[in-house]
Amino acid sequence: MNNIHLINHILIDHKIAILRDEKTKCKQFREVIEEIAMLETLEVLKDAPTKTVTVKTPLEMVEQTIIKENSIVIVPILRAGLGMVNGVTAMLPAVKVGHIGIARNEETLEPVEYMCKLPQDIQDKMVILLDPMLATGGSACAAIQVLKNRGVKNIKMLNILAVPEGVEKVAKAHPDVDIYIAKIDRCLNEKGYILPGLGDAGDRIFGTK
Ligand code: PRP
Ligand code: URA
Repeated sequence: MNNIHLINHILIDHKIAILRDEKTKCKQFREVIEEIAMLETLEVLKDAPTKTVTVKTPLEMVEQTIIKENSIVIVPILRAGLGMVNGVTAMLPAVKVGHIGIARNEETLEPVEYMCKLPQDIQDKMVILLDPMLATGGSACAAIQVLKNRGVKNIKMLNILAVPEGVEKVAKAHPDVDIYIAKIDRCLNEKGYILPGLGDAGDRIFGTK
């Protein structure tokens, strides 16, 4: 059964208001996407693989639990997921980064995969998929399937905005995947855009419109 983690925090709401505002320019939009990804990382890492190390403080030795960074891989779904990478690596600088390129066909809204480059040893890792938008859920399902085909068993999906039908689709197709969402919006419009949403995340991050 899925775990849907809705990250309910006023600081995230505050930052989502900046993303939603049509007047927010590319530079600030990019910065805020990174900041929200960083905040969401705190929640995902509650489940992180850990180990115990011994540290010498100025006063004595202490056993300390730390994150096994080399057991975690992050995978942005291109393009918009790229905007979240720096937010996660600011917290976990040693993680490896894979890439899955998926674009929605604008007519059918079906996901089309156009590139995939993943670390060789990914199957034993905790893999965190990054994409700010979960709309129909088609892209998320396709990316999760790519990871499963490579033998990955521990998958987390990190989104910023989602709609109920998209979450349900992913949850039904992949009940073993944990989904972390900053905000669940109302519905999709006839073109598959999230309402009230923030528009096209990739275009706003990269200034392509
Ligand atoms: C956007 C977004 C997701 C996808 C969500 O990408 O970043 O990947 O749409 O929609 P879905 O849940 O209906 O599949 P898009 O296809 O626009 O590509 P881009 O990131 O390159 O702009
Ligand atoms: N992808 C986006 O970038 N925005 C949406 O609202 C839906 C899908």
